[in-house]
Amino acid sequence: MAIQVSSADAICGAAITGVDLSKPLTEDQRRTCVEALHKYRVIAFPDQSLNDDQLQAASLQFGPFGDDPFIAPIPGYPHIIAVQRKADEQAPIFAEAWHTDWSFQATPPAATCLYGIRIPPVGGDTWYADQVAAAAALPAALRSAIEGRKAIHSAKLPYAPQGVYGDADRAGDRSMDIRADASAEATQLHPLLSPHPVTGEERIFGCVGYIIGIDGMPDDEALQVLLELHNHQTQTQFVYAHRWQANMLVMWDNRAVLHRATGGYEAHDRLLHRTTVQSIEG
Ligand code: SIN
Repeated sequence: MAIQVSSADAICGAAITGVDLSKPLTEDQRRTCVEALHKYRVIAFPDQSLNDDQLQAASLQFGPFGDDPFIAPIPGYPHIIAVQRKADEQAPIFAEAWHTDWSFQATPPAATCLYGIRIPPVGGDTWYADQVAAAAALPAALRSAIEGRKAIHSAKLPYAPQGVYGDADRAGDRSMDIRADASAEATQLHPLLSPHPVTGEERIFGCVGYIIGIDGMPDDEALQVLLELHNHQTQTQFVYAHRWQANMLVMWDNRAVLHRATGGYEAHDRLLHRTTVQSIEG
C-alpha cells in the first residue's frame, strides 16, 4: 500500500498510513514523513505494532535521540520514558500545563514521539497549539512587547526539589518515575519569536511555565506579558485536540507547537512510551 498523508482537518495534524514503522522506511517514505511533520506539525501513524526495540529503531530513523532529564527511562531502554497513570492514581495529571518539550535546554529537541499502549476509552487526549498560526495572529501591542526579546527558560517550576514534581509530589502515589533535582534551576535564553529552523516560518517558541522571565525586563512586567502571550498562544482556534488509539505513534514538531496532556479518564489506566528526537535531517 502506498504511503498516504491525510490532514486532520484542523489547524495542524495529519494521519499517515501505508507505512510499517516496525521496519526500515525507504528514503522516499522517510522524506514524505518528515515533510508532513514540518507541514502539519503533528503526524499520527495509526495501527503500528511496536515493541520497545522497534519504537527506539523507528524513532532513530528520523534522527538521534535527545537527552531526557528528570524522568527515569524504562528498564533496559535508556531512551524511552513511560508516560503513565494508573486507574486509581491520585497524583495530578503529568504535563497538563502547556509546554514545549525540554525548551530549557541549550538546543531543545526537534521532535517527540509518543506511542499509545494502554489508551482509556474516554479522555486523555493530547492537545497541540500551532505556534506558527499564533505568531501570524499576534496583536500589534503583544508583538511589539516580545519582538527582539529573549525568554528565560528553566525547568525549575516543575523539576526543582521544591517544584511541582519535586519532593512533595514524590511523597504521593505518582506511578511515573520523576527525579527532580537542583540542576533544574539552570536557565537558558531563546528568542520568543524566531524563524523555524527548517521551514523558516515565524513561530512563538515556548510559553510561561518553562519560561520564567524575559531577559532585560522587570519580573512583574515580564509575567504580565507572558500571561497575556499564553492566553493568545492557546486560543481554541490554534488548538488541535488529538484523540489516541492503542498502537498509534504520534510525532510532533517541538519547534512549531505547544502541547499538553488532558485528563477525563478517571478509573482507567493510560500508558504511552515516549522517545525524543534531537534533530531531524530535512
Ligand atoms: C507529554 O507532554 O509528553 C505528555 C503528553 C500526554 O500525556 O498526552
